[in-house]
Formats: sequence, structure tokens, C-alpha cells
Amino acid sequence: MLAGGGGSRLYPATKSVSKQLLAVYDKPMIYYPIWTLVTGGIREILIISTPRDLPAIEALLGDGASLGLALTYAVQTNPGGIAEAFLIGKEFIGDQPVTLILGDNLFIGEQMSVAIEGNLATFSGGAQIYLKEVPDPERFGVAEIGPGGTITSIVEKPEAPRSNLAVTGLYTYGPDVVSLAERLPRSARNELEITDINAAYLDAGTLRYSIISHAVQWIDAGTPDALVAGSLAVQTATRDQASELGYVEIAAYRRGYLTRERLLAVIDQTPSDTYAERLRLAVESAGR
Ligand code: DAU
Repeated sequence: MLAGGGGSRLYPATKSVSKQLLAVYDKPMIYYPIWTLVTGGIREILIISTPRDLPAIEALLGDGASLGLALTYAVQTNPGGIAEAFLIGKEFIGDQPVTLILGDNLFIGEQMSVAIEGNLATFSGGAQIYLKEVPDPERFGVAEIGPGGTITSIVEKPEAPRSNLAVTGLYTYGPDVVSLAERLPRSARNELEITDINAAYLDAGTLRYSIISHAVQWIDAGTPDALVAGSLAVQTATRDQASELGYVEIAAYRRGYLTRERLLAVIDQTPSDTYAERLRLAVESAGR
């Protein structure tokens, strides 16, 4: 997970606090992308952030053992681009496929997990990206799909987008992504661009995509409006639909990474009665 950056669009909220630690409804923002990974079946996560913010993130999440997860941490000294994550994570990745998620990307809807799990089960190298129809594609990487159903172009923040399909901040690659990132030239803004990585897989004919269901809301929570929209969407999902969205403890429990006894111990140590009650509901519903 890449959870760095300056959070300049959220200044002054981010003047002394990491964007990814700001609250989205009842949890720190970073819980949601972790939840997305865990519900998709990923339990080993390297969290990359700035020298300033990494200690606070580590203080929040620790080594993940109490959640049945294996969390490790690495610093990105300067914001040199999203694809720098593959250089920083080179040893972590080793010879295994890797999924990258951006720490401010909220995937709001349980169906996302099914898609991720299915794609990971059949992943055999190359790249897998997730596209979402949006009203403002010029703010994102944009993919164009040809008549044959394959991607024909992928462009970062085009002035005149050729589709309304944004490339979301969730990507799976074969381990060759590391050597690809090592060879990648820096862009005009001196960054290793994730769009250049995806374009290389497109050229090689190994870029696969899924279009995210209408039942799943996608929010890049990097602006004040998006942050509020994220909080409201999570509030609605949690209160009205009893969704377990973002509850990392419950996701780990449901996947069998966390035993019932350990979850009960986590609940015992939870100072918020409301949060503890939510976790307890999950234990009880599983017991029925
Ligand atoms: O959210 C999806 C979009 O993310 C994609 O559609 C774009 O293709 C992709 O370039 C990216 O666009 P953004 O404009 O959101 O990129 P940004 O530079 O804001 O970085 C995204 C997140 O990654 C942000 O939370 C900060 C973090 N980041 C970014 C860079 C460049 C880092 O931690 N380190 C970095 O070096």
C-alpha cells in the first residue's frame, strides 16, 4: 500500500497529520484500503509512507499480529511517483505477484471483494487493473476500450478523455513489475508513473481489466468534498445496510486470519462502546 504524498489538497487538515489517518466516518482512512485487501484474501501488506507519517501509521496498526495480518513498513523519502512502490518493495515482492492499493482509495461495497478474490485466483502474470465509470475522467488515468473489448489506450489525466472509465488505485502485477519499474524513465514531472507501467503491459498484450460494478462506489478521498462523500457513503452503508465495510478486525475474522478468542480479546480492549458493539455483532452473527 502506498500511503504517502503531501496531502496538499487537504491542507491544513494534513499540515501535521497524514491524509491516510484522517477519519472517514468512524475509522482512519487507511482502514478501508486494508479492508479491501483483506476481504480480497491478502494478509501480507507492506505499507509505504513518508518519513514524517510512517511512525504514526505504524503506531496505529503495529505489526498486524493482533489482527492475524503481517504488516511491514517502508519509507518513501520523496514523492517520486506511484510506481516507485515497486522499487521500495522489491524485496517484499520477491518472485510473487503483487497487488498495489493507494491509501486514499475507498471501494465502498462488499461486491469488490468477490471481484478481487476471483481475479487473484486466476491471475497468471501480466497486469490486472480495475476501471470505474466516472463523470470526471480527466482527473484520473483513463482507459479506452476498443470494439473487441480490449483496452486500446491508457492515458494519465487526458484533457479530452476518450472514455469515462477511470483507472482506480488498485492494481495486480506479476513480479516482473519490479524490473519494469527499474527500467522506467521518469516523466516530465520527475515521477515514475503508474500509467506508464500499465501502458507497458498494454503494449505487451498482458493488461487485463475488470469494470467495477455499479453496486460499488469508488472514491479517491484526496479532496475535502471527496472526504465528506466518503464519510457519508460509509455512514449509510454501516447504519442502513449493516455493512462491515472498513472493519479490518471483522474482515480478518471472517477470513479465518483471526480466531474468535483473539477477536473477543480485541473487543475487550476497544474503548469505544459503539465500535466494540459492532465487532461483537460480527462474532454473534458468525455464531448463529
Ligand atoms: O486514484 C486513482 C488515480 O491515482 C489514478 O487514476 C491515476 O492514474 C494515478 O496517477 C493516481 O492519480 P492521483 O492524481 O490521485 O495521484 P497522486 O499523485 O495524488 O497520488 C495518489 C496517492 O498516492 C496519494 O494518496 C499520494 C500517494 N503517493 C503519490 C505519489 C506520487 C505517494 O504515496 N507517493 C508518491 O510518490
